[in-house]
Amino acid sequence: MNPNVRPESMERITTPELANAFIEEQIKLIREEVGNQKVLLALSGGVDSSVVAALLIKAIGKQLYCVHVNHGLMRKNESEQVVEIFGKELDANLIYIDATDRFLDLLADVSEPEKKRKIIGAEFINVFADEARRLEDIEFLAQGTIYPDILESFKQAEGKKAVKSHHNVGGLPDDLKFKLVEPLKLLFKDEVRVVGEALGLPHAMVYRQPFPGPGLGVRCLGAITRDRLNALREADAILREEFAACGLAEKVWQYFVIIPDIKSVGVRNESRYEGWPAIIRAVNTTDAMSATIEEIPYAVLHKITARIVNEVEGINRVLYDLTPKPTGTIEWE
Ligand code: XMP
Repeated sequence: MNPNVRPESMERITTPELANAFIEEQIKLIREEVGNQKVLLALSGGVDSSVVAALLIKAIGKQLYCVHVNHGLMRKNESEQVVEIFGKELDANLIYIDATDRFLDLLADVSEPEKKRKIIGAEFINVFADEARRLEDIEFLAQGTIYPDILESFKQAEGKKAVKSHHNVGGLPDDLKFKLVEPLKLLFKDEVRVVGEALGLPHAMVYRQPFPGPGLGVRCLGAITRDRLNALREADAILREEFAACGLAEKVWQYFVIIPDIKSVGVRNESRYEGWPAIIRAVNTTDAMSATIEEIPYAVLHKITARIVNEVEGINRVLYDLTPKPTGTIEWE
């Protein structure tokens, strides 16, 4: 039996009872596999790595070392939430690394999207590898690989071309050889969420929308500057707040703000005010290969617009992207 192929007999995890049975089984397997060795995990705060962390904390407690790299491209309060939940509530061995300057300095004059992705992916591995070398006697690396990732790599092995280069912790340097622990590798996303809730993670964390590895870096279009990145982070937080307030957050698959590197003339406090536009994107999809546009009620759009142009420094217009995928991709870069 190939351990990377989901057996047809495997029941879909749809209830807390089934999730608990999965958790118990995995705890046993993880303890058998890991013994008293140490395990390292890159904890981004996304659904998959968070569920792996919670599962491993339950199975092996302080033998797990979670490394959270803040690349400076996280959404508002995201890193703080990781520290709060994993560092404080779950009392994990959490190593928090603020690498904002390292990333933003490297990205300073880079405007080509794939180059930005490569830099962010490679630097992420550098920061993580530095930490892995500092922590001694680590035998295992845990990863939040899920079944669609495995299916995707089968497809790539068949020679299909990826549209954009997505990254994870794969590709660590040769001197860092770990055995892998991938307890979610046969699960689909909806099952991971059921397991996450059964492990006691907050609903908002387990059901949060997907967020790309390069984070706000591919939404601050072109060469990233700190002022535009800050404006993006604030505008995105307002969008998320307003979507949560009107019930759209649970309904829309992915919604976010993009800020291009252009300015237009506007007026604020009766004076000329040159600023960037904030572009809102809200899409629905099942597999991210194609996507349709969510029809946001005009009243909600007006409220979001009023808040963004009044509360966020540097933004003077709000636009709403009506383009489905194809022809647009979901992200702008
Ligand atoms: P696109 O823009 O290709 O996005 O239509 C499809 C889905 O993939 C996400 N995405 C990424 N995720 N690293 C990631 O981990 C990336 O570089 C990346 N680029 C796009 C995107 O947010 C959407 O959910």
